[in-house]
Amino acid sequence: MAQVHVLDHPLIQHKLSLIRDEKTGSKDFRELVEEVAMLMAYEVTRDFPLQEVEVKTPVASTKTKMIAGRKVGLVPILRAGLGMVDGMLKLIPTAKVGHIGLYRDPETLKPVEYYCKLPTDIEERDLIVIDPMLATGGSASAAITFLKERGVRNIKLMCLIAAPEGIQAVTSAHEDVDIFVAAVDEKLNDHGYIVPGLGDAGDRLFGTK
Ligand code: PRP
Ligand code: URA
Repeated sequence: MAQVHVLDHPLIQHKLSLIRDEKTGSKDFRELVEEVAMLMAYEVTRDFPLQEVEVKTPVASTKTKMIAGRKVGLVPILRAGLGMVDGMLKLIPTAKVGHIGLYRDPETLKPVEYYCKLPTDIEERDLIVIDPMLATGGSASAAITFLKERGVRNIKLMCLIAAPEGIQAVTSAHEDVDIFVAAVDEKLNDHGYIVPGLGDAGDRLFGTK
């Protein structure tokens, strides 16, 4: 059964409020998205197993713990997912990054794929799919289905803001995928935008309109 984790750490919530603010320009928006992604990575990796290792400090030898050889992959959904990659790589620098390009058709709101490049050993990796917005859930569900078709078994989804509709769509299509979000908002509007949300994440990150 999929679990939904709402990461309500004060630093995440504070920065998310700045991200939402329409007065926040692209430069600050980009920096804040990166920072929040880094803070969220801390929680998303909480279940990584540890192994005991021997370390010699300048004072004595000791048994201590390190992450047990985990192969991690990050899969940003283009474009907006790109904004979260660097923040996550700061905490998980050995992760490989695959890209899936999807855009929502503005009429049908259905995802259209236009690009895909994944690490060759993708099926051996624990994957974190990243996208700031989970609106109808169509893009995230399609990306996850695509990764499962490539043999990936261990997938988490990490988003900044989700609509209840998006959570419902992903959890019913992918019972095995836990979702990590900084906020669950009220609803979608008639154009499929999250309310109150933050607007168009890709446009705000890259200064397009
Ligand atoms: C946005 C967002 C998600 C998608 C969410 O991307 O980054 O990928 O919409 O909507 P959904 O849950 O209804 O599928 P968009 O299609 O605007 O493309 P972009 O990232 O290139 O701007
Ligand atoms: N995509 C966005 O960028 N924002 C939304 O609110 C919904 C989908």
